[in-house]
Amino acid sequence: MVERIHTGIPGLDEITNGGFIKNQLILVSGTSGAGKTILSSQFINAGLAEFKQNGVYLSFEEQPESIKTNVSSFGWDLDTPQKEGKFNFIKYDPYHVEDVFDIISNSVRDINAKRVVIDSISALGLYLRDPVELRRMIFNLSLILRKLDCTTLIVSEMLPGENKGISRYGVEEFVADSVIVMYYERFQSAFTRSMQVWKSRGSDHSLKLHPYRITEKGIRVYPDEEAFAGTGRI
Ligand SMILES: Nc1ncnc2c1ncn2[C@@H]1O[C@H](COP(=O)(O)OP(=O)(O)OP(=O)(O)O)[C@@H](O)[C@H]1O
Ligand SMILES: [Mg+2]
Repeated sequence: MVERIHTGIPGLDEITNGGFIKNQLILVSGTSGAGKTILSSQFINAGLAEFKQNGVYLSFEEQPESIKTNVSSFGWDLDTPQKEGKFNFIKYDPYHVEDVFDIISNSVRDINAKRVVIDSISALGLYLRDPVELRRMIFNLSLILRKLDCTTLIVSEMLPGENKGISRYGVEEFVADSVIVMYYERFQSAFTRSMQVWKSRGSDHSLKLHPYRITEKGIRVYPDEEAFAGTGRI
């Protein structure tokens, strides 16, 4: 029996067959504006507010203050847990990528975190020579974080349109244990949002494309509904 943790995102536990698998590295891939940062913050916030699980959020691009302000509109307070030593928010400029292992390990150990977000791995890839190096790096991160007893989301950017693949460098999905893809794409005159579990090692999951919305309480996935696959999908 695999051990699972509740994602904290309504509907996502249903389509993943019960939640994220404990200690896995889960790739959250999506186009720009899909809601990857919101989903990742919701996962961290749920850990803090509902499951007594401390969290670490490593951001490579967006400033922590900006993320905290944006998610406060959903009613999530990340400031208090940060002051109480339950949450570490790290902004890191990935010039010395080799430091990233120490930074993550130290901040996880520091507060005994169980949930980790790396937003985004695509930004880290810009500082590496080639995708092979990125693949090795993600693999090493997964080993370290598994040993630290963490369940980790790594965010990856995806280009919109046909045949563009589901990650920025085309290697991320192979190293990750599970993959969630968030589509934000235009169909006729409006944008639509839909989500799919692309893979989940060691577990069954929904094979359907499900609609999701960003509501005043954050992301909600509709497990009983099937999204319409518009043109331009990979
Ligand atoms: N309070 C809100 N209510 C509804 N929708 C919102 C709200 N706040 C943000 N959004 C939607 O979420 C989008 C941004 O989500 P988020 O920052 O998580 O995207 P992202 O996938 O991380 O994008 P990027 O690739 O640019 O980092 C906005 O473009 C907007 O459509
Ligand atoms: Mg983002």
